Formats: sequence, structure tokens, C-alpha cells
Amino acid sequence: MNVLLIGGGGREHALAWKLAQSKRLGKLFIAPGNPGTAGCGRNVPIAADQTEKLIRFAKENRVGLVMVGPEGPLAMGVVDAFEQEGIKAFGPSKEAAQLEADKAFARQMMRSCSMSMAEGRIFDRYEDAKAYIASRDEPVVVKAAGLAKGKGVIVCDEPSDGILAAERIMVEKAFGSAGDKIIVEDKLIGEEVSILAFVDGRTIYVMESSQDHKPIGDGDTGPNTGGMGAYSPAPVVTDALMSQIEREILVPIVDGMNRNGTPYKGVLYAGLMITAGGPRVLEFNVRFGDPETQPILMRMKSDLLEVCEAVCDGRLDKVTLQWDRRPAVCVVMASGGYPGNYEKGKVITGVDAAEALDDVAVFHAGTAVQDDELVTSGGRVLGVTALGATISDAKVKAYEAVEKIKFDGAYCRTDIADKANKIRK
Ligand code: AMP
Ligand code: GLY
Repeated sequence: MNVLLIGGGGREHALAWKLAQSKRLGKLFIAPGNPGTAGCGRNVPIAADQTEKLIRFAKENRVGLVMVGPEGPLAMGVVDAFEQEGIKAFGPSKEAAQLEADKAFARQMMRSCSMSMAEGRIFDRYEDAKAYIASRDEPVVVKAAGLAKGKGVIVCDEPSDGILAAERIMVEKAFGSAGDKIIVEDKLIGEEVSILAFVDGRTIYVMESSQDHKPIGDGDTGPNTGGMGAYSPAPVVTDALMSQIEREILVPIVDGMNRNGTPYKGVLYAGLMITAGGPRVLEFNVRFGDPETQPILMRMKSDLLEVCEAVCDGRLDKVTLQWDRRPAVCVVMASGGYPGNYEKGKVITGVDAAEALDDVAVFHAGTAVQDDELVTSGGRVLGVTALGATISDAKVKAYEAVEKIKFDGAYCRTDIADKANKIRK
């Protein structure tokens, strides 16, 4: 079967790498892809939001399945558009994608399912938000309701910072129209985990747990980023906790989406805070996580294409997934200055030497080829991922690989996966 994968980040390189291992794969096309995905299939120069062109390409190239990586095209209804043309597409409908694209919708859905989440309020007027925040003495989290590339959430320890955050989002429009509405939530304390599940509308198949590292600095300091590294599994998610998460979060939300007339199909990503009072939902995403997908897929032994077809055909109940028991750690190498301003076009060396190490894969995110040289072209540049006998072994190996890769201004956190050992009893 020919597959068209939409997107061009680190997550898509990991998806392309895994799809390329499938016995069921005919040709793999990636639109637009990146220099990493070019090693797994054929990159097609069509942007992820050019739905008409993507459909024409899929028809001309007898594509049997479309996989969608990022949230943007999903929120625009790319899955609906392909399905109207009779082409199978893996991912939620435009309506179901609101679970990520509109945090106000997500909160209302969660409320209707009586789900555990942070206390919070939705505002569409700055003055009201300001008055509410001023009335609180506890730290708050201020979130743009719309899509903001993972950066629309500001965690504030002082109420005065909360008011400034609301002003930045609603008045200064730091995230454009994504900030027309905001959510003001109580700040939750605990360990954050990412639980990703395949969902075919009815059946839920939970993948191995993982943990992201959102802030730019070691020890979770500094502003939030798209994700500076991840590992899988997350020891904080015991079997009992995973059962609780399925029972109290995943099953109710999938049922709720059905009741709402917006059935869910694709990957459902629950971003959770494990608080002293149990798991609380921070957000739902309607796609694979980036960078969680990199370590998760390195551990997946089963055929990803087979699972995705089962999701599209509504027969996920017939599928069993096999996982490598060994943990995996992904360290993101970023451009100096990210998540603020950074320079592009820095020559990258050492990727081959890093990949020559056993059980190491280097997933490209913000890279490009210029004059036959690999150069940086984004904030998050590479996701250096390794398997190891233990999480500590995987970490050592991932950083050994990182050491081999050089580019001007390269930055990475040095403490990815340390939390796993802190948590392990
Ligand atoms: P979200 O996109 O809603 O997951 O928010 C991005 C990040 O902000 C999360 O991964 C958390 O690190 C943090 N965050 C969001 N909501 C809260 C909350 N209520 N309490 C504490 N941290 C939060
Ligand atoms: N790793 C966070 C995200 O994919 O949204």
C-alpha cells in the first residue's frame, strides 16, 4: 500500500522511519518531509496545509492511506477532505480535532464527562479575566484557547504575572486569534506524563507511557518549548495508574466524543499531571506527540501501518501491539536562542557517526540541505534517540550520540530522563 505522510518535523521523521519498516508498505511519500524523511521515502514539495494539492497528489500516486502528523491540518479538516474523496486517512475529523484546537471546547467536553482537571474558567473579555485573576491568591496558568504551536500556555506563580499573561494573549495578541479566548486555570503540582492511545471510534489501545520535558532549561526552568526531550516508559505510570487513566480519562472522553456526535479516530494524546490526588488532565492533543513519538516508536515492535489501517477500518479490537522492553530516551538538540530568536543555516556534522552507534536513531526536525550540506533550519533541530537496558543506559547512550553532533550554537538540556530515576522507587 502506498502511504502519504503529512508533516515535516521530528515526529514525522520517526513516523516515516517506522512506516518504512512495514512489510505492507508500497511507496512512502512525505509532504513536505525533511532531510531525515528523505532517507525513508520520497519527499514531495507540498506544504502540509495545501489540502487540494495533497489530494491531487494522492490520487495520481494511488495512495491507499494518508497519515497526518501535525495538528494544524487536522484542525483544518484534512481528514474529512480525503475521506470525501474516498481515500483512507488516519486522524480525527475537523470537529473531533477541536479537542486540541479549541481548549474551551475541550474543557466543556471534559466537564460533561465529569473528568478530573484543573479548576478553571474561560474568558472572552480581557477585563473579566483580569478581575478573576486579581481575585485569586494561588498561582494560575493562562492559556490561549486556540492553536499556538505549543507555546500558548503561560504558567504564572504570581497573580500579577497572570494579569500580564492575559494581557499579552488577549490584548497584545501574542498568538494572534488563538488568544481571542483564554482559559485561566489553577496551577497543578506533580509529575507530567504523556499517554498516547490509538482510538478507532470505539476501541482504545494505549501505547507505552512517556514523559516530555517542556521547559528550555535543566531542572525544568525557563520558558516552555515544543519539547526538549522525552523518554519511555515513564516509571511514575504504574500498571494500576495506567488502568485508572484508562478508566477515568480515556474511556470517558472517547464515550463523550461519541455522545457529542464527534466520534474520535486516530491518536489521542492525554497530557496529564499526576498530582497527590491522582491524575488530572492538562490537555488533549489529537495527534502523536513531538518528541514523545521518537522514543515510543523506537520501542514499538509491531507494524505501525497495520495498526493505522486497523484504526481507519474500525477493527482496532483485532490488534495486539508488541513493545521492546528496553527504555528509550530522546534528547532534542536545538538552535541557540530557541524558544526565542535563533539563527538558521548552521552546518551540522557528525549525524552519521552518531547513527553508527548501536540502537541509536537521529530524527531530523529543523534541518535542511543547502549546497549539499546539512544545515539547521528550525528551533528544534534533531531528536537524538537511544535504546538502553535501563533508562540510565539509554540516557548515557543518547548523550554519547549527542556529543558526536556539532553545529554552531547547539543547545540541549543535560538532564533528560533524570526524573525517571528520581521517581523510581
Ligand atoms: P498544555 O498545552 O495545556 O498542556 O500546557 C502546556 C504545558 O503547560 C503543560 O505541559 C504543563 O507543563 C503546563 N501546564 C498546563 N496547564 C497546567 C496546569 N493547570 N498546572 C500546571 N502546569 C500546567
Ligand atoms: N510534546 C508535546 C506535544 O507534542 O504537544
